[in-house]
Amino acid sequence: MDRSGRIVNASYGLLKQWSMKNVLPKNVNLQLLRTYHPPPPVSSELKLGGIQPHIIPTRPDGTFDVNEITLRLRIEDVHCPRTTLICIENTQNVCGGKILPSLWIDQVGSIAKSVGIPLHMDGARLMNAVVASGESAARILQGCDTASICFSKGLGTPVGSIIVGPEEFMYRAIRLRKVLGGGMRQAGMLAAAALYALENMVDRLADDHKHAKLLAQAISETGSKNVICQVADVHTNIAIVHLHPDAITPEQFCNRLSMVGKVCLF
Ligand SMILES: Cc1ncc(COP(=O)(O)O)c(C=O)c1O
Repeated sequence: MDRSGRIVNASYGLLKQWSMKNVLPKNVNLQLLRTYHPPPPVSSELKLGGIQPHIIPTRPDGTFDVNEITLRLRIEDVHCPRTTLICIENTQNVCGGKILPSLWIDQVGSIAKSVGIPLHMDGARLMNAVVASGESAARILQGCDTASICFSKGLGTPVGSIIVGPEEFMYRAIRLRKVLGGGMRQAGMLAAAALYALENMVDRLADDHKHAKLLAQAISETGSKNVICQVADVHTNIAIVHLHPDAITPEQFCNRLSMVGKVCLF
């Protein structure tokens, strides 16, 4: 996957057949500063890596207050886990696919550098940020040490993500992939699909962004007080719809949407 490495300006990328990005730091009893809002229901980093996530509340635009980083770093103390990784997510899923401003990422990166802690980007939807912002992946990742990118979302492959980073980190990742049972001799077929996606599917993400906006506009134009979607909040391929719990269930809403879809496909 050296081609994906080139796209993000890292040594090279490792196709991962197993969700291992959250368990990469060196040791047990480590601490990970990360954005997630709300916290994920299953903490694989805790169960598999012995890592305690320390979650910084995310603002609606997907960023957080950078002053929180230094406030939350653990001092060296036998009672405390050591903070060993700062993790951000771009685009920010739960905030509605928001694109993190690159200057903000740079700021997080320089704080991370000043305290000697690597910065990782969970870039499951990084290519959506690339297409919507017009910035290159390498530019967006300028302040980051490592990143993961998912091929099986908007990029459309049946399976697969990569993790990218410097050579020494990648060596550890390869070892850990093996330890976790993710080593796979037949990964070439998955890699072929991922390369196809990188070469042919990235520009197409603009269609997804257009469709998400159209959906949000259509919902918003109904003027309903029970089904609300803020068009201005749609940056990429996610439109968050708020349903009044007394008026409509998510299942009813999905059924209604599929009925509309039969009459009017974008
Ligand atoms: C932000 C984010 N990161 C990671 C993942 C999972 O990626 P993977 O398929 O590599 O486990 C998801 C899945 O939805 C996601 O939304």
